[in-house]
Amino acid sequence: MNSILIIDDDPLIRKTLSSHLTKKGFEVFLEEDGGKGLLKYEESLPDLTMLDIRLPDVPGIEVLRKIKEKNDKACIIVMTAYDDMKTTVEAVKLGAFEYLVKPLDYVELDLTIDKAFQVRSLEDKLSYLVEEQQKEYKIDNIIGHSPQMRDVFKLIGSVAITRANVLIHGESGTGKELVAKAIHYNSPYSVEPFIVINCSAITDTILESELFGHVKGAFTDAVSETRGKFEIAGKGTLFLDEIGDISPNLQSKLLRVIETRDFMKVGGEKILKTEARIIAATNQNIKQSIEKGKFREDLYYRLKVVEITLPSLRERKEDIPDLVAYLLEKINRELRKSVRKVPSDVMKLLVNHVWKGNVRELENALIRAVILAKGDVILDENLPLESGEKKLFSKELGPLKDVERNYIQHVLTYTKGSKTRSSQILQISRPTLDKKIKEYKLEV
Ligand SMILES: Nc1ncnc2c1ncn2[C@@H]1O[C@H](COP(=O)(O)OP(=O)(O)OP(=O)(O)O)[C@@H](O)[C@H]1O
Ligand SMILES: [Mg+2]
Repeated sequence: MNSILIIDDDPLIRKTLSSHLTKKGFEVFLEEDGGKGLLKYEESLPDLTMLDIRLPDVPGIEVLRKIKEKNDKACIIVMTAYDDMKTTVEAVKLGAFEYLVKPLDYVELDLTIDKAFQVRSLEDKLSYLVEEQQKEYKIDNIIGHSPQMRDVFKLIGSVAITRANVLIHGESGTGKELVAKAIHYNSPYSVEPFIVINCSAITDTILESELFGHVKGAFTDAVSETRGKFEIAGKGTLFLDEIGDISPNLQSKLLRVIETRDFMKVGGEKILKTEARIIAATNQNIKQSIEKGKFREDLYYRLKVVEITLPSLRERKEDIPDLVAYLLEKINRELRKSVRKVPSDVMKLLVNHVWKGNVRELENALIRAVILAKGDVILDENLPLESGEKKLFSKELGPLKDVERNYIQHVLTYTKGSKTRSSQILQISRPTLDKKIKEYKLEV
């Protein structure tokens, strides 16, 4: 049951409000002055407070300030007389949800209370969603302890608290979007939107109106006015994916927004302001594009206030076992399965495979293997690797040293211990063969 605290010195108002609100199903607390009202607030933590601005002991505005100090999310409706308008404006500035003028109009009162609870429920939902996102994109969920990834973590940590634009480089599937989200959700603006725009997936005209919005009639399909992502993002983050693909025309428009924070809707004349932070990503070599005259150098410098380069998986093979464990946890959770065992020869395959699509490809391979698994074990037959590769890295062959040892032993047995024949077959000198026989303690 939602609760409402009424702080008013007028006994008649307390009585009528209380009976009205009790009938509507609220739990009601009543207090007659500011001091008692504050104590009651702390004791009962009501969902809503109705506060008279004129109280006998302390001004209502002080009570409001103190409640807000204790709980900045507190929902307070102030009740005021016409001649108190100045104080009322101050109350709203201090965070009062709404003000109602006495004598109270009960229809207006009911609507205001409904609205207050609706807003509160939306705020609760929003903070729940933001918390979920923060959990998902906390830095611990970016896996890697290789030196390159440690550098990435340091950069994420230091850039998150700033408003600097960031340019993320990395091959496909290396985690560019993941890093962009980690920066956003670890920033002081995490409740603001994180908006993704894939600059290569749409035509120039559509991209322009996506970014800046358009006015009605700006082009044939512009049947109504729209808001662009620069506007919708507020103080949040605009993630411009595949930035290397944008046209020269849009490059100069983007440069202008970044430099001046001003922009206009397509076909519009009003100048709008943006406060969004830009994180751009690319899997292209932008420096080369600049040399070829395809990408503006001045835009590049504006975007790469901080530059983060994500290593490919081949450059950080030591992270693969941890990534496999992490991704398997995630996949099992999502698919409600429990396939967690990875035999060491299968792990060897996963570590040595060249993952052209990096973490994304590894993740997809594991999803498939989890789905196809019969028991709780990841089997190599369920991994989309070349059969030759499987054999090459399989346990029969093992490490190079073992392969060499076994091969030489095999030849020696075949030649019945003839070192001359063996060295001919192996195409190594006799002294080298002698050295290997000693090193590997082979039987001749
Ligand atoms: N270091 C990491 N730790 C955990 N998961 C990761 C890591 N890097 C990437 N992933 C996961 O791999 C998948 C691909 O990552 P993401 O989409 O961020 O890559 P990308 O670089 O944007 O790829 P593309 O260029 O294909 O758009 C996602 O599911 C992401 O969660
Ligand atoms: Mg991406």
